[in-house]
Amino acid sequence: MIAGPGTPADAAALAALDARCNPAAWSEQAFATHLAASPPNATLVFRDGGALAAFCAFRVVFGELEILQLGTHPDLRRRGLARALLSEVLAAGGAAGAAAAWLEVRVGNAAARSLYAGLGFAEVGRRAGCYTRPPEDALVLRRAIGPP
Ligand SMILES: CC(C)(COP(=O)(O)OP(=O)(O)OC[C@H]1O[C@@H](n2cnc3c(N)ncnc32)[C@H](O)[C@@H]1OP(=O)(O)O)[C@@H](O)C(=O)NCCC(=O)NCCS
Repeated sequence: MIAGPGTPADAAALAALDARCNPAAWSEQAFATHLAASPPNATLVFRDGGALAAFCAFRVVFGELEILQLGTHPDLRRRGLARALLSEVLAAGGAAGAAAAWLEVRVGNAAARSLYAGLGFAEVGRRAGCYTRPPEDALVLRRAIGPP
């Protein structure tokens, strides 16, 4: 599989996949708005045939890459898709001038925390009660991005 850009035509499929991945999934409208934004705000996807296998929505703001939403189809996990996608996203952020990347993750999301730790993200903060449904603290993770 090769990572490529999501397009506005992917909005409904992205929302459906996100609903299978994240408790606070984005709506189709939220994806449509993000997909219509100018680069370097983008959504990178892996396609498995015609279907979406994994996705990562991100943006670059004030010289920092923010990872907004990430998910891999439940049937396709532990195959390196998220790690490969994030590597591409970090490279895209670096090419867009970002010197660092950051994200928030649920304290109890062991899979995602392990993924991010393996990519060099380190904990720089904690936001108490940040998440709802279910209520949970968020860890703020950050890592530097080298020059492209
Ligand atoms: C977290 C998630 C995106 C990982 O996707 P994935 O494509 O399965 O991840 P990868 O195969 O690239 O895994 C890379 C590394 O992450 C870690 N990891 C992934 N899934 C894991 C799990 N279930 N348990 C422990 N570590 C895990 C491992 O270190 C793994 O490396 P390894 O397989 O060599 O041991 C996926 O589980 C998912 O969609 N979860 C629900 C949505 C979510 O949590 N999004 C992130 C919100 S911040």
